[in-house]
Amino acid sequence: MSPSLPTRLLAAERPPPAAGALRPEVAALALEGLLAPRKTVPPILFYDAEGCRLFARITELPEYYPTRTERALLTASAGAVAARTPVGAALVEYGASDEGKALLLLDALRDPRAYVAIDTAAEALAAMAARLARSRPALAVHVIATDFLRPLALPPAVAAGPVLGFFPGSTIGNLEPPVAVRFLAEAAATLGTAAQFLVGIDLRKDPAILLPAYDDREGVTAAFNRNLLRRLNRDAAATFDPGSFAHRVVWNDAESRIEMHLESRHAQTVQVAGRPVRFARHETIHTENSYKHTPEGFAALAGAAGWAVREKWCDAQGWFALCLLARAAP
Ligand code: AVJ
Repeated sequence: MSPSLPTRLLAAERPPPAAGALRPEVAALALEGLLAPRKTVPPILFYDAEGCRLFARITELPEYYPTRTERALLTASAGAVAARTPVGAALVEYGASDEGKALLLLDALRDPRAYVAIDTAAEALAAMAARLARSRPALAVHVIATDFLRPLALPPAVAAGPVLGFFPGSTIGNLEPPVAVRFLAEAAATLGTAAQFLVGIDLRKDPAILLPAYDDREGVTAAFNRNLLRRLNRDAAATFDPGSFAHRVVWNDAESRIEMHLESRHAQTVQVAGRPVRFARHETIHTENSYKHTPEGFAALAGAAGWAVREKWCDAQGWFALCLLARAAP
């Protein structure tokens, strides 16, 4: 940089923090999984800014059917959901990285009072809030940047009125069944006894449909998976060579889940936050589970958390379902 540049300009053009900076909470999450006998990294770490961009591209891939199938179901069911939801309800979305699906509901709901968006991707939330302030100036928008598995409280003004919870995208499929039950019970406590909860679930189906959805021809999902290593290099002071890990996708029939892994192409040692992590050749990091529930299986999970399925919408192929939950009669 030229030393003759005025200081004001230098300050304005200050680059982002240097590569290799350490975010302790990211490093702690990563190390916990990477030092275990079977290496894992929690999928929440996929969603840095680049991970959010890559996931947005995944949702448009021809092989990735869930997003467009769910959008069609939402378009078809929004009126019925609205008819069951009190006037002036607040929409509370878990895992909300963009407002596309919420708008389908907000446009159908009668006089929605507020929109609460909960997600770990703080940047994406801020950008969404800015867009909504322009496009829906009358709507009160609250963003909560957190891991939705942590207990959270709604803004008091929202908690005081009717609430519709919304958990689209089959993000619940990332959770092991007991964790999903705990999440659903926690959401019941957060949303309140009178609330309804609309949950999108990807259904169990032929692996010949599932596998390409997670291993697309263009390699976008592979890039999404490997971006996790770049993110750890940046935020957990790690030294991964992303090219030395292969994208692997497995259908685990016994557990009814798609698994994503990153497989070490050769024996190697990687530093993560000052700790050595050793890989044998072909050893994998398990980066994601995506459970594919049956409608009955999901109803049982919801039931274990005190919810009952009041209504359900499913596409003609039986690939995806939207379930409207309400509190089960005690
Ligand atoms: C956002 C968790 C629903 O499991 O299908 C897409 C994430 N991973 N391709 C999914 C994902 C690979 C996605 N969820």
